Amino acid sequence: MPLLIKNGEIVTPDSRCHADIYAEDETITAIGHNLSVPPDTTILDAAGKFVFPGFIDPHVHIYLPFMSTFAKDTHQTASIAALMGGTTTYIEMCCPSRNDDALEAYRLWKSKAEGNSACDYTFHMSVTRFNDNTEAELTEIVADGISSFKIFLAYKNFFGVDDGEMYQTLTLARKLGVIVTAHCENAELVGRLQQHLLAQGHTGPEWHEPSRPESVEAEGTSRFATFLENTGATGYIVHLSCEPALRAAVLAKQRGVKLHVESVIPHFLLDKTYAERPGVEGMKHVMSPPLRDKRNQKALWDGLAQGLIDTVGTDHCPFDTAQKRMGEGNFTQIPNGIPGLEERVNLLYTYGVKRGTLDLHRFVDAASTRGAKLFGLFPRKGTIAVGSDADLVVYDPDQKSILSARTHHGNFDYNGFEGFELDGRPVAVTVRGKVQVQDGVFVGDKTRGNFLRRQPTHF
Ligand code: URP
Ligand code: ZN
Ligand code: ZN
Repeated sequence: MPLLIKNGEIVTPDSRCHADIYAEDETITAIGHNLSVPPDTTILDAAGKFVFPGFIDPHVHIYLPFMSTFAKDTHQTASIAALMGGTTTYIEMCCPSRNDDALEAYRLWKSKAEGNSACDYTFHMSVTRFNDNTEAELTEIVADGISSFKIFLAYKNFFGVDDGEMYQTLTLARKLGVIVTAHCENAELVGRLQQHLLAQGHTGPEWHEPSRPESVEAEGTSRFATFLENTGATGYIVHLSCEPALRAAVLAKQRGVKLHVESVIPHFLLDKTYAERPGVEGMKHVMSPPLRDKRNQKALWDGLAQGLIDTVGTDHCPFDTAQKRMGEGNFTQIPNGIPGLEERVNLLYTYGVKRGTLDLHRFVDAASTRGAKLFGLFPRKGTIAVGSDADLVVYDPDQKSILSARTHHGNFDYNGFEGFELDGRPVAVTVRGKVQVQDGVFVGDKTRGNFLRRQPTHF
């Protein structure tokens, strides 16, 4: 059915105007005033509201075997939560362990999502070892429409690659035109510091941050940049959390390394005192890189405003309280992760645009457009233009609410942002022209989501 969104204020990274948007057959076909539309058109009145391009979360975990358990969401619960928060596309990390075959893992991850998502999706393919089959397998995965890899410099013996494997992955990525995303922490130092702290009887979640200090992340960031510099590949640092790591990334950018930076919503708004809370309350706030000293938050907000940080993702990775308790008496066993897929856009709008200094256009860029450009989705996604998919968010900038596990839509029993106040939220969300959220309620098709094939663009 055709769709008309009228009377709204359309906002993209470089423009802002009042106009109506008409969509037919999943794409936007007209933008203007007094558009004539067929009688069967669905009409949404956006008077007094913003209309944003559908938001893109470049970093989520949904199906994830990790730390002796599984992350809690299904594609159905995650995608509905995403849409309720204005995210219409997510990029999931396909994360086989070092013992798994890459191609088999890719097929498994894809099968988990197929027919089960209410929003569109694609994957970053993790390279967790590099052997004689890897080049052929990755080439086949790229031909299937995956144009980004992921490597972990952390999680030794599980997801982590050594420097030789990083070199091989980046060399292949350069040849294929693929961008490589990277978790940058020094695995050896993390392991040594964890053992040292445990041996001293330091077992609680408050010791997670000291076991992975800022310098350990800065070293990983700088080493990744040096490998990019010497292979000519393009890189993207995921979940950069602190000022020393940002400084390392900026230095690399300044000398011409093709490097992009993502930070995630927990690091902007939560600090290490959350993980220092007693017992399971602290465990709920264990993720890697860890929540940091509060002074880092200003560096992240400033870096985001200046565009030194390209995107804001979530690293959505939900575990229930009972799973978090697996690390009682040993902080190294706490499943790492904080969910945020539903909350990201509203938190960024509230604490960045409304109560902070983040420009409205930079907000749209960081949460939608720049991710689309970096990961081969633009201009199909990430903008409002004739020919683009009609993924649209009608946003009420004045609707107040409070975040809570009692009202969220994810499949987990706590909310890392419990009690945070919000100043805005989506009232309507469309995926390729179909209304999926209306008046703040999911009303759509739970299987609407498509797998998005992408072409390599980073030659
Ligand atoms: O703590 C985190 N970040 N959990 C998910 C895995 C990862 O490192 O991205
Ligand atoms: Zn990570
Ligand atoms: Zn992650």
